Amino acid sequence: MKAALLDGKKISAEIQGEIKQHVAAFVEKTGKQPCLAAVLIGEDPASAVYVRNKERACERVGLRSELHRLPAETTQEQLMALVDQLNNDPAVSGILVQLPLPGHLDQTPVLDSINPIKDVDCFHPTNVGLVSQGRPQFMPCTPHGVIQILHRNGVEISGKHVVIVGRSEIVGKPLAAMLVQKTSPSCGPTAANATVTVCHSRTQNLAEITRTADILVAAIGVPKFITADMVKPGAAVVDVGINRTDDGLCGDVDFDAVGEVASSITPVPGGVGRLTVTMLLDNTLTAAKLQAGE
Ligand code: GUN
Repeated sequence: MKAALLDGKKISAEIQGEIKQHVAAFVEKTGKQPCLAAVLIGEDPASAVYVRNKERACERVGLRSELHRLPAETTQEQLMALVDQLNNDPAVSGILVQLPLPGHLDQTPVLDSINPIKDVDCFHPTNVGLVSQGRPQFMPCTPHGVIQILHRNGVEISGKHVVIVGRSEIVGKPLAAMLVQKTSPSCGPTAANATVTVCHSRTQNLAEITRTADILVAAIGVPKFITADMVKPGAAVVDVGINRTDDGLCGDVDFDAVGEVASSITPVPGGVGRLTVTMLLDNTLTAAKLQAGE
């Protein structure tokens, strides 16, 4: 492989080390330990793995975590009542409702009912609006992870053409909103000021557009969708996909073939996924600081 590896494990460990120090300083100053409350409904095995990873990561950086497990048949009212209870619990800094919810539950009113000051996923319309206006109180976890992995590997974003394939509310849309700002609150102006194109399932001449990308971000959810002929030689390629296939985990990028064309590439696993959890820890500390008036 010709491309350099953008190593999510290494960058994640580096950032978690920094967060651990900031958590310790916060605890020393306020006597309060920030806490992430995760809500897991039903028995989806992938969601259970994600939640366990989040709990372990909290422990590593000195955050408290609590898990609220609800049965698959939980009603909308019961779930909303739990969110209300967590909103009003002063010991809870951040609330995360693990998605996807079982089919009979309506996600939007649940996410809208989380107090924006505890919204560590950055899904509430207030927080989405603040990100879009370039004055975030939280940064959405996966997009922030993408920016961190590029910035900390020395990939300049300013002035570059970033093509994002995928327009999801969790990744594509918020990442585009962050990259067009004049500065990144965490990484500065070199990690912002991009020219951004967002492509999606109705985009015409997709490969023609992706081939113009200096930085190509794949967030589609289709295994190995991005092939070598879709990538400009020398581009940086960020793979946000985590797909479960018969051959194990695989990203949205054909890693081996694209690795021969790109200058740098993130692996799956061990790439952006690691950063998502880490940026959630960062948001939990931010939530505790906001609630302490810091
Ligand atoms: N399910 C998959 N990714 C996420 C995420 O980032 N946040 C939540 N709440 N659920 C998810």
